[in-house]
Amino acid sequence: MLNDLQKEIIKLKEEKNAIILAHNYQTGDIQEIADFMGDSLELCIKASEIEGKDLVVFCGVDFMAETAAILNPDKKIVIPDPQAECPMAHMLPADEIIKAKKRHPGAAVVLYVNTLAEAKAEADILCTSSNAVKIVNSLDEDTVLFGPDMNLAWYTSQQTDKEIITIPEGGHCYVHKMFTTGDIFFSREKYPDADILVHPECDPEIQKFADYVLSTGGMLKHVAESPKKTFIIGTEVDLVTRLKRENPDKTVIPALSEAICKTMKLHTLEKVKNALLNEEYIVTVDDETADNARSAVERMIEVSK
Ligand code: 13P
Ligand code: SF4
Repeated sequence: MLNDLQKEIIKLKEEKNAIILAHNYQTGDIQEIADFMGDSLELCIKASEIEGKDLVVFCGVDFMAETAAILNPDKKIVIPDPQAECPMAHMLPADEIIKAKKRHPGAAVVLYVNTLAEAKAEADILCTSSNAVKIVNSLDEDTVLFGPDMNLAWYTSQQTDKEIITIPEGGHCYVHKMFTTGDIFFSREKYPDADILVHPECDPEIQKFADYVLSTGGMLKHVAESPKKTFIIGTEVDLVTRLKRENPDKTVIPALSEAICKTMKLHTLEKVKNALLNEEYIVTVDDETADNARSAVERMIEVSK
């Protein structure tokens, strides 16, 4: 049952001819009013297909909303809380990529979508946690500059013959860094029949002890389709909220209930209402940067099809 504020938001959304996109880490109350929820790749693809809407409300972090703005230069994209930044995306400034390109001429530049628009403008192609291996293996170059997540770089390097050079050193997600091998061993012992799913942003030793390493979209698909009944989830806790709602017959347990992405939680129903009502806060990417970044985003979408 939707509450009064949620009903108000849905009414407002219709009046404004708006669409609400939300990442899988949004809180349950926002998940319930979103028109579309997804992982980073699914949100990019959805953002590339928006037609006939006057306003896009993006409930996610800065780089996601910026990617939607890059793909839709003529649409109004708003984010409910402008402070919703992904710290990892800020770890790789564009000038660091330019320096790395000079050190490794001839290397392809593959950037995780978790980067700022200025960094994307320096990339040959983007990737997400669900397609990184496919993207890297699609390239002609044998050497790849890859950043900013060192753990996704490690995951990819295990499944390619190409040389992966990580930029910057030590780029990481603080949320996925919280998981320890102890958390995974404890879950394995307590729930021996469960599938343990972890995100490729987790450290290599966590990935090695898990049953599956998947993006959030991959985890949703796995839980929906698996004959298993119990799942331990090694990613941000609100993915578990969505998994539980969509799989009421299954037991879904977070590997670590403290794994909370604080900036994802800055968006609230009140702020979503404000975003619709006042059409704020507008996400802008300057034309030159957007034009330079667009081809890397579009190339990723093309290769992912
Ligand atoms: P995905 O939803 O693409 O797996 O990414 C997780 C994440 O941390 C996004 O910032
Ligand atoms: Fe960034 Fe990590 Fe939050 Fe994802 S979970 S938005 S990578 S800080």
